[in-house]
Amino acid sequence: MGITLVGHTKGGIGKTTTTVQLAAGRARQGKSVLVVNGDRQKSLTNAIERRSAAGIAPRLTMVAYPDGDELRAQVLRLRDQYDDIIIDAGGRDSTALRHAMMIADLMLVPMEPGDFELDALFDELIPLINSIQAERGDNPLPVYSFLNKAEPKKLSADNLYAQKILEGLTELRYLPRTVVRRKPISSASARGLSLHEVPARDRDPKAIKELDALIEAIF
Ligand SMILES: Nc1ncnc2c1ncn2[C@@H]1O[C@H](COP(=O)(O)OP(=O)(O)OP(=O)(O)O)[C@@H](O)[C@H]1O
Ligand SMILES: [Mg+2]
Repeated sequence: MGITLVGHTKGGIGKTTTTVQLAAGRARQGKSVLVVNGDRQKSLTNAIERRSAAGIAPRLTMVAYPDGDELRAQVLRLRDQYDDIIIDAGGRDSTALRHAMMIADLMLVPMEPGDFELDALFDELIPLINSIQAERGDNPLPVYSFLNKAEPKKLSADNLYAQKILEGLTELRYLPRTVVRRKPISSASARGLSLHEVPARDRDPKAIKELDALIEAIF
């Protein structure tokens, strides 16, 4: 499905986690997947290296381009060699995030319910989206949000409030595909594994269902 960017200006909301789940999930469906770490942090690189070291098939190819110019040039050069390219990029003024937004076919924004997270959305991300859309002109970037690290209680006030705000935005389209805060998601992702790939005794059917629904909505 081309180039998918998992991005946000805010830290810690689940970009790397979501990237691992999309990449491993698509690879399990038989797609050739390139994972791009656009973050100077090594979390994604470490996760994919753990997957490789454990000999998990299918293998995921990973490259790291924290510099935006290089990311853009290399991803465009590689784009026809993979079914899916999935980029993890963040940071307020990161060139990797800006360049990735210029070349992506779709941007997915994980949103954690919470006041600081909503502040970051309005103060940083929406202005950035508007500036990129102006630059992209008649080839706008489709941007989708979904709730990640949601409170386990379905009717939690925080979840409902964040959802209401996201539903009202025009800059991002809200995907009703909530992923709850669940330990199995963080532990599988740190090892570069899809939730289907963990040992049977550790598998979490609810988490699997949520991530499968997210993947289906995007690809
Ligand atoms: N759905 C989830 N359930 C449980 N834990 C989660 C979930 N999503 C993310 N986490 C945890 O939240 C923390 C931040 O997630 P992650 O590293 O994916 O965010 P990030 O946006 O990539 O952060 P950074 O800006 O530092 O790169 C990690 O400890 C991760 O394991
Ligand atoms: Mg990260």
